[in-house]
Amino acid sequence: TRVPPEPFRIKMVEPVHVPDQQERERALEAGHFNMFGLKSADVYIDLLTDSGTGAMSKQQWAAIMMGDEAYAGADSFYSLKKAVKDVLGFDYTIPVHQGRAAENVVFGSLVKEGDVIPFNMPFDTTRGHIFNAKASSVDCVIDEAFDRETPHPFKGNVDIAKLEKALADNRGRVPFIMVTITNNSGGGQPVSLKNLRDVSAVAKKHGIPLLLDAARMAENAWFIKNREPDCRDMTVAEILKATMDTADAITVSCKKDPLVNIGGLVACRTEEMYYKVVPRVILFEGFATYGGLAGRDLEALAVGLREMVNEQHLTHRIAQVRYLGELLTEGGVPCIQPIGGHAVFIDAGAFLPHIPQGSYPADVLSIEIYREGAVRGIGLGALAFENVDEKTGARTFPKLELYRLAINRRTYTNSHMEYVAETIINVYNRRDSIRYGLEITYEPPVKGLKHFLAHLRPK
Ligand code: F0G
Repeated sequence: TRVPPEPFRIKMVEPVHVPDQQERERALEAGHFNMFGLKSADVYIDLLTDSGTGAMSKQQWAAIMMGDEAYAGADSFYSLKKAVKDVLGFDYTIPVHQGRAAENVVFGSLVKEGDVIPFNMPFDTTRGHIFNAKASSVDCVIDEAFDRETPHPFKGNVDIAKLEKALADNRGRVPFIMVTITNNSGGGQPVSLKNLRDVSAVAKKHGIPLLLDAARMAENAWFIKNREPDCRDMTVAEILKATMDTADAITVSCKKDPLVNIGGLVACRTEEMYYKVVPRVILFEGFATYGGLAGRDLEALAVGLREMVNEQHLTHRIAQVRYLGELLTEGGVPCIQPIGGHAVFIDAGAFLPHIPQGSYPADVLSIEIYREGAVRGIGLGALAFENVDEKTGARTFPKLELYRLAINRRTYTNSHMEYVAETIINVYNRRDSIRYGLEITYEPPVKGLKHFLAHLRPK
């Protein structure tokens, strides 16, 4: 076979319905042409996100029965704390209900108005939380990240010169440096261990903590094993530990690599940082040993953290994503290269070059792919990332106008990938006839959240 077969068998099936053309049109109208407005029942293959959409293992389902629902000090908290210590090496663990909750407690506790956080690139909710704390971020990712074709092995890397400049320009206003692994906003691209060590050295030199947004840390470690010659003989588990050794703390959406449907965590090394963060956990999430989760969720997460470094799982997963990317690339569809760890990112600007970026081509593409095959992906372009100047109304667009197909973990088969590729290649072959843009008829009042809630209309 061209791609490794699934390293699991299916024990329980979830039937899915293929809506007909009329149902698809009705669903688009009812959902205001926004993929977030569609009902799951109206979608055949749902690649909106890889977040919380994976299938749990039988070991995780069994662990759910072991949940201890005590308010404070539950056994399930200690299962989680031990898994974090064993797999990631941190002494202090705080569960939270998902990744953005970790951002809320960390940014709300450590960031003040006017602060600046150097990043490779933040994800959209992360950026939203930085705005919410009246702070800002500086993208320090390497230039290759913005180049669709460059086959750089670590396109998520931080450019150390850009980082040094960001620190020099903002002396006294940088509470920490943060690196997203893998870099979701830049195409699910990994960051090398060497680069993380270099960033960590810069952070130490300036006496500033380094934090990781580690939602896809196991995929990142798999890429390091396969692309960084110095790490070839290490296991993914060893690489992951070495990755974590570069950081003072992490925020994690456990709905991604750690294989749970809900959950997140903050982990750190010092009691000092733990006590800075924990009051806000109690305010927003719940007591420090459950953080907005049930005891059973903590148990499933403890198992998922150990399963995520299984190399057979990771090899199949990353190969499956690459298989979809290769099928699309062979069909002529412009994809970000190399193919990312959790998703295939299509260059919607190149797919629909005749639609101006201000008319949201990535979201037009979402609509057309849904129309063609009831496949749901998501636009990550101007609608998600444009900046509109509050005074002048002037718009600045992101460098990349992307459309993302995020692959759920352990959920779809390789033949589903073939169906998705055929659907999109059909749209590609009729791309010249797609001659409309989108306008916004409703926009939420909160900066950075437009793409989730906007009502759109073809024009
Ligand atoms: N950080 C990264 C890199 C993410 O990709 C996400 C979520 C978060 C933080 C926030 O975590 O959803 O658990 O609150 N990304 C999802 C996505 C939603 O579709 O890429 P969350």
